[in-house]
Amino acid sequence: MAKAIINGNRSKGQINKNIYGHFSEHLGRCIYNGIYVGENSDIPNLRGMRTDVVNALKTLGIPVLRWPGGCFADTYHWRDGIGPKEQRKKIVNTNWGGVTEDNSFGTHEFLELCRQLHCEPYISGNVGSGTVQEFSDWVEYCNMGGQSPMAEERRKNGQDAPWNVKYWGIGNEAWGCGGNMRPEFYGDLCRQYATYLRNYDSDHPIYKIASGANTADYHWTKVVMERAGALIDAVSLHYYTVPREENWNDKGPATGFSRQEYFTTLRKTLYMDELIENHGRIVKQYQGNRKVGLCVDEWGTWFDVEPGTNPGFLYQQNTMRDALVAAVNLNIFNNHCDTVVMANIAQVVNVLQSVILTEGKKLVLTPTYHVFEMYRGHQGAQQLESYVETSLVGQGEERVPNLHLSASQSEDGVLVTVANLDDTSSAVFDCVLSGLGKVTEVSGRVLTGERGEYNDFGSEENVMPVPTTAQITSDGFQAILPACSVAAFVVS
Ligand code: AHR
Repeated sequence: MAKAIINGNRSKGQINKNIYGHFSEHLGRCIYNGIYVGENSDIPNLRGMRTDVVNALKTLGIPVLRWPGGCFADTYHWRDGIGPKEQRKKIVNTNWGGVTEDNSFGTHEFLELCRQLHCEPYISGNVGSGTVQEFSDWVEYCNMGGQSPMAEERRKNGQDAPWNVKYWGIGNEAWGCGGNMRPEFYGDLCRQYATYLRNYDSDHPIYKIASGANTADYHWTKVVMERAGALIDAVSLHYYTVPREENWNDKGPATGFSRQEYFTTLRKTLYMDELIENHGRIVKQYQGNRKVGLCVDEWGTWFDVEPGTNPGFLYQQNTMRDALVAAVNLNIFNNHCDTVVMANIAQVVNVLQSVILTEGKKLVLTPTYHVFEMYRGHQGAQQLESYVETSLVGQGEERVPNLHLSASQSEDGVLVTVANLDDTSSAVFDCVLSGLGKVTEVSGRVLTGERGEYNDFGSEENVMPVPTTAQITSDGFQAILPACSVAAFVVS
């Protein structure tokens, strides 16, 4: 029996709904085919956006969507993607497969997508190969409500009202594909860019996110915070779960992986906790009397591409292992809600740890999709401190705690989300709710399957949440957590 305690007397604060954010990049079949098929497609669409994809994403209530990259962002010149489509430049996507990018999906299309999804846009600007003027013009183009050259150009292109885009990323991975910069150089550059990204409406101030560290590069966070901390609102962090990091040509398969690799993947996922602790401490040390947030604006699993697919497209399947990776990461973000202000899983459709996969007209919801849906109630809720007794499970050297938990309270009740990482044994979950009054009702759902199970095109959806029973006890509730599962309980 695993005892858990949800402490109604202790909270780290509100869980920023943006922790449940996503990332759309001009990479492989994410934008084209995945999200955008164009108005003349025989795939049902609204202004070119796939209706099935938009509806599925609306069910998740996605709060914020990052675009256009990723590495693509630092080669993207936004003017290539505005104006009449037939006149837009056709360029080469030099980062991802060398394919032709016809720019038919640009600023107006992205902001139309966000309108359909009812989510906030988050635009990453080009610092690596762009200019301060170009970036500054983009903000003016999107946000200037009065008279100005950029506002006039936007109106000519059919958009009268400003979009008031709040979230702006000052480059992406400036230490790598975003310019191979040293933190000292980027820190100074970031100051310069931040200076010229203006507010055009005092009711809609923009929020500036500096390009942050890769994994445990604490020096990067320190130097960028020292130099630019006073001019930014947040700094990012990228951390991917890669089973075999030693050789990026052999990261491990997305399906058909060994039991050992399953536990390696989960152990590496748990490392996110330490990364947030350490980067968060540095950010707080240098933020002065302002609050600078941490945006984990790229995270998720990164495996070998599916055999036979374009290696530049990073297309991978998604199994129950990914569901556990998602559950663990989201629990970690919830439990660090005093530090993490946004997180964006990479990428929303058809790339790395995607919630949706498409093939022509067909669409598959991945196990990761279901975790986001089950965790939706955490968005904007009050985090509650929680603890669960665990035992170590695994194979060989690879050992991880069997259970992983987070909890929050909202007007819908207390949401308890728990993952059972043990792939062979179920656990009796005895959950005590302390300081939260008497429990009168509990409803539960569970997502479970073999560790390598996934949903595929043309077959029944194997992996999807089903109701599970929970017994009310004198001080909480009790339920069985199947082996390899993610469960969500709503308690009132
Ligand atoms: O998600 C794929 C790539 O990973 C992104 O474009 C980049 O930011 C990161 O290195």
